[in-house]
Amino acid sequence: MAIRPVLRMGDARLSQVAEMVSDFANGELQQLLVDMRDTMKSLDGAGLAAPQIGVGLRVVIFGVPQPDQQAEAPQNSRYPDAMGVPETVLINPVVTPLDDKMDTGWEGCLSVPGLRGLVPRHSTVRYQGYDEFGGLIDRTVSGFHARVVQHECDHLDGILYTMRIRDMRNFGYSDVLFPDTPVQDE
Ligand code: NI
Repeated sequence: MAIRPVLRMGDARLSQVAEMVSDFANGELQQLLVDMRDTMKSLDGAGLAAPQIGVGLRVVIFGVPQPDQQAEAPQNSRYPDAMGVPETVLINPVVTPLDDKMDTGWEGCLSVPGLRGLVPRHSTVRYQGYDEFGGLIDRTVSGFHARVVQHECDHLDGILYTMRIRDMRNFGYSDVLFPDTPVQDE
């Protein structure tokens, strides 16, 4: 188990395009995933991309407990209203919007602690990629699940959510934007 430091906005490594994973039978990939899971859980995150811990590979993880699991697993306090998103390891992802419909929603990021911004995302996307064993993943999702996937996969192309905010008046400190909702700092 290793909780790794999360790079923060301004670090040049967050702006780089990550490389494809070519070898799945590689102990380093499994160790990377252990570290990513430990790091994400320690920070109560909904997702994490490998570049956020300084590893330039096209690997993301995400997941929010389903409502019926929340009796056992603590609810994600950063996204208390989020619908459940299955715990997913996604390697070499391809994200394809299925139509032109966009939703706007508030996002935060472990690399931009303490802040939130209103970000447009495609409402419905298909995503394809591989799990940690090289098995194919192919899902069509919408809503919060689609938002998380787009946010995490953006990290692989060096894009932070702050770059997608259309109106910077909708960007600020979590505790100022949402004073009545205690939001744990990322
Ligand atoms: Ni992020």
